[in-house]
Amino acid sequence: MRNLNQHTITEAVIERFADTPSPRLKRILTHLVKHMHDFAREVELTEDEWMQGIEFLTRTGQKCDGNRQEFILLSDTLGLSMLTVAMNHDKPEGCTEATVFGPFHVDGAPHYENGADIANGAKGELCEVSGMVRGIDGEPIAGAVLDVWQADATGHYDVQYEALAQPQNRGVLVSGPDGRFNFRTVAAVAYPIPVDGPVGDMLRATARHPWRPAHLHFMVRAEGYETLVTHVFRRDDPYLDSDAVFGVRESLLGDWVPQAGGGYALEFDLVLNPKGSKRSVGSAHATRGLMRSESIS
Ligand code: BEZ
Ligand code: FE
Repeated sequence: MRNLNQHTITEAVIERFADTPSPRLKRILTHLVKHMHDFAREVELTEDEWMQGIEFLTRTGQKCDGNRQEFILLSDTLGLSMLTVAMNHDKPEGCTEATVFGPFHVDGAPHYENGADIANGAKGELCEVSGMVRGIDGEPIAGAVLDVWQADATGHYDVQYEALAQPQNRGVLVSGPDGRFNFRTVAAVAYPIPVDGPVGDMLRATARHPWRPAHLHFMVRAEGYETLVTHVFRRDDPYLDSDAVFGVRESLLGDWVPQAGGGYALEFDLVLNPKGSKRSVGSAHATRGLMRSESIS
C-alpha cells in the first residue's frame, strides 16, 4: 500500500479498519472516512484551511469544562443535534415531538408540589403554566415526573449567574391522578446562545444570529412511556423560523395568553409515546447524560 494518491487513499484507510471487531464501529468509521475524504476533495481543502479547522476544533475542546460543552453547542448550531433527535424520535401522530436538550438542564433540581412557584425569585413577569400528561388515546398519565427549566427575563439560566444562592426557574413536579400539572414561573423570552467561544466566532464569520425563540424546557418520564425531552415555544416569537439550533417544530408552539390582572397563562398538554409503539432507537438514551456515557461497542 504505497504511492497512495488523492483518489486511492480513501479505500486504503477504510481497508485498515477491516478487522474491527464491532460491526457498528466499523460501519461508523468507514462512513466517517468516506464522507470526510469526499468533503476534502469536494471543497479542495488547502493546507491552511486544514490547519484553521484543527485550531478551531482545538479551541472548541479548550472551551469545554464541567459546565460548558462547546462541542455540543457546535453540534447544535450545525444542525447535527436536531438531526439526531429527529432520526431517533420518530413517533406516532399526536405525540408531543422531541427537540434538542440544550446545555442548561441540571440534575437534582428542587422538587415542588403542583401549584408552586418555581421561579424562586427569578426576574420576569408571572406565567401560570398548566396542562395534562397523557397518552395518544387521551388517557391521563398519573405520576409522570416533569423536569422543567427556563431562562429568566434577561435571557439567562440560573447556572449562568456565578453568585446565585438557590436554583431559579427550574424544578421537578409530578402529575396528579388526573395527569394534570401546574406551576408558576416567569414568562419566557428569546435569548442568544453563548457566543464567547469558537461557536460565536463561527456565527459571526457566517453572519448568523445567535438567538433562540422564547421557550420552556420539559423532560417528562413515566413508567411504560418513552422519555420526552422537548420545549414549548412562544407562538408569537420573531425567531421561530431562524432558531440558532434548528429546534422549532410547529406542534411545539404554545400560547402565552396575557391575563387581565397581569402576567400570562400557558396551557400545554404533553402527549407521551408508549414504549415500543414505533421505531425509536434513541428512547433508551433520551438524556444527554446517558448519551455522553455511552460507548460504541
Ligand atoms: C437551550 O435551549 O437551552 C439551548 C439549546 C441549544 C443550545 C444552547 C441553548
Ligand atoms: Fe433553552
